[in-house]
Amino acid sequence: MMPKTSRTLVFAAGVSLLLCTLSVAAQDLPADLPRGKALYQNHCASCHGQTGWGDGPTAASLRVAPANFHLFRSFLKSDEELLRTIEHGIVFSPMHAWTGSLTEGQMIDVLAYVRLLSQQGK
Ligand code: HEC
Repeated sequence: MMPKTSRTLVFAAGVSLLLCTLSVAAQDLPADLPRGKALYQNHCASCHGQTGWGDGPTAASLRVAPANFHLFRSFLKSDEELLRTIEHGIVFSPMHAWTGSLTEGQMIDVLAYVRLLSQQGK
């Protein structure tokens, strides 16, 4: 049996570890969806369409069709992969890099909104 004080200490250490883990996770996880939506509508909808079907007003005039986020081809890609595309763009494509015009946090928010759209119908 441990003395009472060390049991208390172990318990306190456990609790602070748990709290620590929770606060790290809290910073990582929830993207700001309303902010992502506003960014998407300002910067992305003209090509990708209001609801992400790749049918924005400028889509028809582009040499390369904007990604339709509802297709499995796009849907099955990881967040990291899509985020890399948003950050760095695609060579020889109208999809240019957003690093420099959007912050990392903004890109994460806009990606979260893209993911939300891809789960919704027309
Ligand atoms: C000028 C038109 C245009 C704008 C504006 C635009 N995109 Fe794109 N985007 C494209 C095109 C075209 C592709 C497909 C490129 C290809 O396949 O070569 C694409 C591809 C992507 C992909 C990759 C999808 C996949 O399945 O690999 C993501 C993610 C993406 N765009 C996100 C965004 C976001 C987020 C914004 C706004 C911040 C944005 N795009 C703005 C034209 C645009």
